[in-house]
Amino acid sequence: MAAAMVDEEYLKEIERTRRDLRALICSKNCAPIMLRLAWHDAGTYDAKTKTGGPNGSIRNENEYKHDANNGLKIAIDLCEEVKAKHPKISYADLYQLAGVVAVEVTGGPTIDFVPGRKDSTLSPEEGRLPDAKKGSSHLRDIFYRMGLSNRDIVALSGGHTLGKAHIERSGFEGPWTREPLKFDNSYFRELLRGESEGLLKLPTDKALLEDPVFRSYVELYAKDEDAFFRDYAASHKKLSELGFTLPSSCSRLAVKKAKTLAKIAVGAAVFLRSITSSSSPIFCILLFQMAYNRSDDDISGLNDIPIPGDIIDQFGGSTDLIDLEDVHDDADTQTTIGSSTKRKATKQKAKC
Ligand code: HEM
Repeated sequence: MAAAMVDEEYLKEIERTRRDLRALICSKNCAPIMLRLAWHDAGTYDAKTKTGGPNGSIRNENEYKHDANNGLKIAIDLCEEVKAKHPKISYADLYQLAGVVAVEVTGGPTIDFVPGRKDSTLSPEEGRLPDAKKGSSHLRDIFYRMGLSNRDIVALSGGHTLGKAHIERSGFEGPWTREPLKFDNSYFRELLRGESEGLLKLPTDKALLEDPVFRSYVELYAKDEDAFFRDYAASHKKLSELGFTLPSSCSRLAVKKAKTLAKIAVGAAVFLRSITSSSSPIFCILLFQMAYNRSDDDISGLNDIPIPGDIIDQFGGSTDLIDLEDVHDDADTQTTIGSSTKRKATKQKAKC
């Protein structure tokens, strides 16, 4: 998914939307189904083809009618009330924000939310979401396809601390915990306790106990709620950003500061050169380092700082290292040409 520019007005609208979602979710007690909506919109992501993911496509009739999405039209319609008040907000952002708010208002961890997702009218084929009747190798197939890890699988399964299964929607019935409107680590505690009257364990939940790698996380989260909250918040953020790269405008202030610092540094280096020998290695290394770093950090604005041509010549005149084209985090346009690859990968990790 291409990165979008998010202006200040959009950010303000996100905060208003967040408030309306909080009020809606609390008044309707619909946190569980909102979380499931966010997860099902995002959980279709395929890292290889870069298709699916949190792009709002679950609102398309052909997608919400997939078997796995049974019942989610309720959440889509609830979100429509909020969308009507905030038409500028993309569906993709709206659903992911609803998931984040659902976790927060039920007592779960705060999840960092970065807006700017684009909507898609294209829906993935049916069958990308996990089948609750299967085991650990199926869970790995599905989550690895998204680019997620074993830790993510177990932490995110903790989402079943909220809500219940409905026989008419999935063929399963009952909640996983005694307080299905409270986000805590009781899903893991109940899982280790074994069968309990009135509580549900899906085959995929039980698989977390049978697989030794998964089980080690279940045991950790059952005894350490802080560890669960920390890992859950990180995994949920990952899930909600699959195929999405941070908007390059996310920190105008950071850009301004970095540009000013860089200009001072270049000025200092050029001055140093004027009072020392023109081939002094120290400022050449300094300038080279800056030229190299400017390619690593696309929000820094360093790409705009001119580097004296003779310095470039001293390093073989390679524009590959210094003059990267503007890739702006567009995952779809990533190439794998020589040393550019490393820097583009680094760009994906850029923080606001
Ligand atoms: C690991 C693979 C998963 C499987 C096989 C699975 C399967 C299911 C099934 C069968 C239901 C019952 C739906 C119904 O009858 O209403 C359900 C509900 C739910 N799932 Fe999952 N799920 C998985 C992962 C997740 C993840 C990663 C999250 C969130 C991070 C999540 C959040 C929920 C929530 C909150 C509900 C309750 C919805 C409600 O009360 O209406 N699930 N899931």
